[in-house]
Amino acid sequence: MRNTFLAVLACASAITGVTAHPERHDHSKVHSPAIHARGTDKCARQIEHRRDAAFLKRRNALGKRSTSNANRFMYKELQNKTCTLAPDTIFGPYDVDGELHRHDVREGQDGVDLYLDLGLIDVETCEPLSDAWLTIWSCNATGTYSGYIGIDPDTVEAYDGWTTRSDGTTDDSTFLRGISKTNEAGIGEFLTIFPGYYSSRTTHIHVTVQSKVNGDDTSYSDAATQHVGQLFFPEDLINSVYQLAPYHAHLATLNRTLNSEDSLYPTANSDGNDAIIATELLGQTLADGLIGYITIGVNRSAAAIATTGEQVNVQGAIPTVSLSASAQAAANTIDIAQGYRPNGMRV
Ligand SMILES: *[C@@H]1O[C@H](CO)[C@@H](O)[C@H](O)[C@H]1NC(C)=O
Ligand SMILES: *[C@@H]1O[C@H](CO)[C@@H](O)[C@H](O)[C@H]1NC(C)=O
Ligand SMILES: *[C@@H]1O[C@H](CO)[C@@H](O)[C@H](O)[C@H]1NC(C)=O
Ligand SMILES: *[C@@H]1O[C@H](CO)[C@@H](O)[C@H](O)[C@H]1NC(C)=O
Repeated sequence: MRNTFLAVLACASAITGVTAHPERHDHSKVHSPAIHARGTDKCARQIEHRRDAAFLKRRNALGKRSTSNANRFMYKELQNKTCTLAPDTIFGPYDVDGELHRHDVREGQDGVDLYLDLGLIDVETCEPLSDAWLTIWSCNATGTYSGYIGIDPDTVEAYDGWTTRSDGTTDDSTFLRGISKTNEAGIGEFLTIFPGYYSSRTTHIHVTVQSKVNGDDTSYSDAATQHVGQLFFPEDLINSVYQLAPYHAHLATLNRTLNSEDSLYPTANSDGNDAIIATELLGQTLADGLIGYITIGVNRSAAAIATTGEQVNVQGAIPTVSLSASAQAAANTIDIAQGYRPNGMRV
């Protein structure tokens, strides 16, 4: 079992309930509590400091917005900041290898903007982990993943008229996926939207970490993955966001799975672990957007996580897409206009 990952901030809440879901995984492979208790609290102060600094830095960079509530967190429970190892989770059926390197992954997807800063910390030294590559992916506001737009998020079956390719994908769309590099402070920055939800899973964002990449070659076949995880949100925030368009319409066709009913949330948020993103409002209302921050601990010494085999997904391999130079160039243009480099790092 790998112990590459750890996670985060506040104290874990009591979570119960496990339900079946379409993402294949094996709890015996994703849960090793004996090891995870180790080497954790020693990083707590660094994590707290880094989170506060990340929020402030992001606000300053976004300057045009009100900073009146810069120090006010929406959720009181986030005042408890422990640094704990969290178990690895799974790639799940919707990962794609070969994504665009970029900061802004929105591609026009409608929803609440989420400025998501992910801080990596080396669990052996409690130092920031710089020059590591982060990959994120999530569904859109009504539950659809890019590359899988032919899949009905309510049933997880192909829509009439759509066929699934041999690698599981249905198309070549790329929204709400991207890869970005961590800076010298160990922080990677994304601009995405608050995710929607799909059948049997609570709201989440997937993340992987590759800390030993040669140059810019982030393909899973060439560069070891040291962490694969899922990040969650507080239940009350999810409910508030889903009162807004375009999220709200989905409730008419699919009741959402609560955090407490999710199959992976308890694993990622038990034994003192906490994989819940700390958030605060960017402006005065939710519709103005959110800033999110979480610290992820990575063990650079741990063995690479397998990216093939039946633990990965039903196909046994992560689909690989080849993106055109023009798609990367278009992403670069958007990022450069926002003050980011083509590798997703802030200028
Ligand atoms: C925060 O930690 C303190 C001390 O361990 C505890 O009493 C309190 O209940 C915790 N608060 C939350 C929200 O978890
Ligand atoms: C999510 O993506 C699907 C597939 O492209 C699209 O039909 C749907 O309108 C999108 N949801 C929103 C809220 O735009
Ligand atoms: C959601 O759950 C409620 C209560 O069980 C039920 O009445 C309603 O039909 C469900 N909605 C959908 C879209 O399944
Ligand atoms: C990191 O991984 C190595 C190799 O598996 C292991 O020996 C070490 O104890 C791990 N460190 C932590 C802090 O878990």
